[in-house]
Amino acid sequence: MAAIAAATSAASSTTQQEDEAEEFGPQMINKLEAQGIGGPDIKKLQEAGYHTVEAVAFAPKKHLLTIKGISEAKADKIIAEASKLVPMGFTTATEFHQKRSEIIQLTTGSRELDRLLAGGIETGSITEIFGEFRTGKTQICHTLAVTCQLPIDQNGGEGKCLYALLIVDSATSLYRTDYSGRGELAARQMHLARFLRMLLRLADEFGVAVVITNQVVAQVDGAALFSADPKKPIGGNIIAHASTTRLYLRKGRGETRICKIYDSPCLPETEAMFAISADGISDAKE
Ligand SMILES: Nc1ncnc2c1ncn2[C@@H]1O[C@H](COP(=O)(O)OP(=O)(O)OP(=O)(O)O)[C@@H](O)[C@H]1O
Ligand SMILES: [Mg+2]
Repeated sequence: MAAIAAATSAASSTTQQEDEAEEFGPQMINKLEAQGIGGPDIKKLQEAGYHTVEAVAFAPKKHLLTIKGISEAKADKIIAEASKLVPMGFTTATEFHQKRSEIIQLTTGSRELDRLLAGGIETGSITEIFGEFRTGKTQICHTLAVTCQLPIDQNGGEGKCLYALLIVDSATSLYRTDYSGRGELAARQMHLARFLRMLLRLADEFGVAVVITNQVVAQVDGAALFSADPKKPIGGNIIAHASTTRLYLRKGRGETRICKIYDSPCLPETEAMFAISADGISDAKE
């Protein structure tokens, strides 16, 4: 909860920068094409009166759903992509390159796991860690809270936990208790999306590493029949879109746990084994 409180206060201090970003003016809706939104869908949005990326980013999802041909999944994607463009304003390639070069990796405590992550947990973006209970999500967070304070040459973040790293442990469990039942699903998802946008801003503007943990639920729909491991993270596409790197944890033998890269723009879908010990996260002994 402390982490969330810090997030809220930091977010209010960004209001000023938000105003400045808006001076760049609205972005034409066609820009969404470069984000992977199809031309015909953009035309539908225009016909419904949406002419800027901002208009779409701030539109309630239920309004988009009233447009013929815009499905639930499409609306999610459109809003997610539009939101990515809006909070950041324009970024030149040079700025982007500059930002990339400032990224550091925080060690997880396990060399195997760091190798899997090409160094560790990255600053400047959101990493989602999901898995069943007792798979080590909180343990990883605790270890990161320590390692992020190490000097850079020890693969740390040389910062205080809240400045280098923002942890939201069990992001969705709070939502599950606050909003119950299918009837409140839309409201819940909208609130979650707003929360994630705020986290994205913090990652982007302050260069912190944001780590979200998430439990999994058994899939109840038809997809369960076709997947080997019928579990999926809570929160659906909304968290998936906001997170740059997604890690799936499962239990191994004894103290060992297996981490699989689930979704990353630059890492292959491979696995690594680590262990939970009295010192937190470490390498498996064998
Ligand atoms: N000193 C230790 N040595 C070995 N294993 C340990 C040690 N301390 C804790 N564990 C193991 O760590 C696991 C708990 O991990 P953690 O709390 O990170 O899970 P989690 O994924 O956050 O679960 P939840 O979804 O319930 O929050 C348990 O299986 C526990 O046995
Ligand atoms: Mg936990």
